[in-house]
Amino acid sequence: MTVSIAMAGKGGTGKTSIACLIIRYLLRHEGSPVLAVDADPAANLGLGLGLNFGNTIGSILAEYNENKLAIPAGLSKDAFLNSKLNESIIESQGIDLITMGRGEGSGCYCFPNNVLKSFIDRLLPNYKFMVMDNEAGLEHLSRGTTESIDHLVIVSNHSVKGARTVGTIIQLISELKLDIKRRWVVLNQSPDKVDPLVEAEFARLGVSLDARIPEDRLILEYDWNQRSLLDIPEGALSVTAVDKMMKLILSKRSSEVRA
Ligand SMILES: Nc1ncnc2c1ncn2[C@@H]1O[C@H](COP(=O)(O)OP(=O)(O)OP(=O)(O)O)[C@@H](O)[C@H]1O
Ligand SMILES: [Mg+2]
Repeated sequence: MTVSIAMAGKGGTGKTSIACLIIRYLLRHEGSPVLAVDADPAANLGLGLGLNFGNTIGSILAEYNENKLAIPAGLSKDAFLNSKLNESIIESQGIDLITMGRGEGSGCYCFPNNVLKSFIDRLLPNYKFMVMDNEAGLEHLSRGTTESIDHLVIVSNHSVKGARTVGTIIQLISELKLDIKRRWVVLNQSPDKVDPLVEAEFARLGVSLDARIPEDRLILEYDWNQRSLLDIPEGALSVTAVDKMMKLILSKRSSEVRA
C-alpha cells in the first residue's frame, strides 16, 4: 500500500520546505518511487526539489477547455486528455512530480482539483509514497484534496497566529469528517525554548507538538541559490529534525487513528 503524506498550515510557515525534506528522507532511507504532488496553485514544490516543470494540470485543462489541443484522429477526447496528463509528469531519479498549477479564469480551482484527484488515484498504486504539498489555509481541506491520506503534517511557525491556524485546521478536519488517518503538528523555525505565550496557546487548543524543526540557514541559502533541498547534507539542523520526525511518523501504522 502506498503511504500518503500531505502538508497543511498557515502561509509561509515552511510547508514546501518541509515537504522537500520529507521527500529527501524517503528517497534516502525508505526507498522509491515517490510521487510528489504540488497541489498549491502557486506551484513551487518543483523549485524546492530542483525539478523544472513544464505543463501543469491547470494549463493542460485550460487548453483542453478552449479546444486548443489538436486531438489526433481515432483518439477520444478523454483518452487524449489522459495522455496529455501523463506527459505532464516530470520524472527524476526515484521521484515523479505532478503539478496542479492554476485553473483558467478567476480563481476557480475546482475542475483542475477534481481532475488532479482522479489522476492521483490512478497513479498512486505505482508508488511507495506520495507526498502532497498544499496551499496555505483551509481551501484544500474543504475541497477534499487532502482527503483519504495517511498522515497530515500541520506546520506552524513560532507564533500565536500559527498555533491558532493549527487549531482551526484540526477543527475543520473533524467538522468535515475528512478521512485522515493521523495528524502531526510541527513547529518550524522553532527556537531552543518555545515562548511560554506560544506554548500556552497550543495548550489552550489542546494541541501537543509532535516535532520541532529549528531555524536552518541552509534552507534559505539553498533557496537563494536555487539548489534542490534534496541535496542538503546529512547533519544539517533541519535534516536531523525532519529525519527524526519521519522516523516517528513511519513508526506509527496508519491504522492507528487519532481524532
Ligand atoms: N527551518 C527553516 N529555517 C530557515 N528558513 C526556513 C525554514 N523553513 C522555511 N524557511 C524559509 O521560509 C520561507 C517560507 O518557507 P516555505 O516556502 O517552505 O513555506 P510555505 O508554508 O510553503 O509557504 P506558502 O504558504 O507560501 O506556500 C522560505 O524562504 C524558506 O526558505
Ligand atoms: Mg508552499
